[in-house]
Amino acid sequence: MQVRAGSVDLLTSPPDVMRPLKRVPAPSGICPQPRKTRNAPARMQEKRNPLPSSPENLERGRQLYYKDARPTECKLCHGIHGNGNGRLAPGLDPAPRNFTCSELMKTISDGQLFWIITHGSRGTAMPSHKGTLTETEIWQLIHFIRGFAE
Ligand code: HEC
Repeated sequence: MQVRAGSVDLLTSPPDVMRPLKRVPAPSGICPQPRKTRNAPARMQEKRNPLPSSPENLERGRQLYYKDARPTECKLCHGIHGNGNGRLAPGLDPAPRNFTCSELMKTISDGQLFWIITHGSRGTAMPSHKGTLTETEIWQLIHFIRGFAE
């Protein structure tokens, strides 16, 4: 069976959100956001992403961000453009991080991102991913979300 919209076959073509994002103009989120997130321990703060930013790692990060991460895909809060304006974002206080804000993102270390993705940010909607994402997957996600601010 085929379901067509114009010349696009909706059943076999990838959904909109799986298109490469860099060339899609992103509506801007708040930048810089106020940020009170707890700091990772010093030894984690210093950690650099151990994986190369290869096409394979970026692609896996992208898949996790848009559809595979559990308990919830990152896009639902952080947005399909990474600007913090996802479907679940309205009403969240503090707001999901706006990854497109390079002014803020360049001040946050890889190790800090890893720590919060792993443990969540207590008292906020940011969930823990202990047991649902492997360390490799978290580093792949970090390569991917850094791409929003380039
Ligand atoms: C239910 C909503 C929600 C989901 C799903 C979610 N986040 Fe978040 N995220 C947040 C919120 C809210 C914050 C802000 C927390 C704060 O200010 O301390 C945040 C903050 C962050 C930060 C910033 C850490 C810092 O130190 O500033 C990172 C990185 C992050 N999220 C990554 C992810 C990734 C990767 C995923 C998917 C695996 C994800 N988030 C899924 C809501 C969410």
